Amino acid sequence: MAEIIDGKILSQKVKDELKVKVEDFKNKYGRQITLAVILVGENPASQVYVKNKIKATEYVGMKSLSFYLPEDASEEEVKETVLSLASNNGVDGILVQLPLPKHLDENKILNLIPAEKDVDGFLAENVGNLTLGLPTTVACTPFGVLKMLQSINIDLCGKNAVVLGRSNIVGKPMAMLLLKENCTVTICHSKTQNLKDICKNADILVAAIGKPKFVTADMVKDGAVVIDVGINRTENGLVGDVDFDNVKEKASYITPVPGGVGPMTIAMLLENTYLCAERREQAL
Ligand code: GUN
Repeated sequence: MAEIIDGKILSQKVKDELKVKVEDFKNKYGRQITLAVILVGENPASQVYVKNKIKATEYVGMKSLSFYLPEDASEEEVKETVLSLASNNGVDGILVQLPLPKHLDENKILNLIPAEKDVDGFLAENVGNLTLGLPTTVACTPFGVLKMLQSINIDLCGKNAVVLGRSNIVGKPMAMLLLKENCTVTICHSKTQNLKDICKNADILVAAIGKPKFVTADMVKDGAVVIDVGINRTENGLVGDVDFDNVKEKASYITPVPGGVGPMTIAMLLENTYLCAERREQAL
């Protein structure tokens, strides 16, 4: 039976450690670290995420600026908001909550965020640095998953890691991070053949495909570490991409949903904001 990697406990530890660093920053540089969040529209899930991000930002002692724009906001309006934060020296991080309403061009808007304020690690410069193995801002969810893997003290070197999903936000950066840790990495997606065989070979299996209970026990190797990034809203409440009840009987470690990767994503957003603020001060 698997041990649970508790994202609530680990994220609390990350936030409490950050609290001290954020206070030290304030004493050292005489200013408060500031994170700006932009939410366009009324997507209910995004509203919850943004609310939780703001609460956590304030918890660690950072200043939170929030901008709520209507569903029908023009691209110009959103761009102006981003640009004013980009040129504001007091702002350390800018987060545009995704997804944006369909009429807005996500790339055009995100590209207005200066790379040094890209707390999501979404911009080409930061993604490129990650690929090159250079220090950079890493997307919050994969960064949180890595923190979870490090928390159980397993040696990642040479392990077979399988990432289910190839999104820019999770799958691709996750694969790059695991590669940097010397894993042998396979990325699987909707067109992958022999998916089950590939998964069965995984020492570390990261599921990020958005399909409720997709990963079943027969796809999991005995003793594998299973990380569930999925958050699927179903009639029976929030469900991950992993069939938790059955897979936990085979895995050595597993993350629950809720209370697993989700809270880690927010903690790592704050860690990224702190790192961006430090780097900005170092660059002055
Ligand atoms: N939407 C879903 N996940 C994320 C995230 O990590 N960052 C942003 N900005 N939007 C998201």
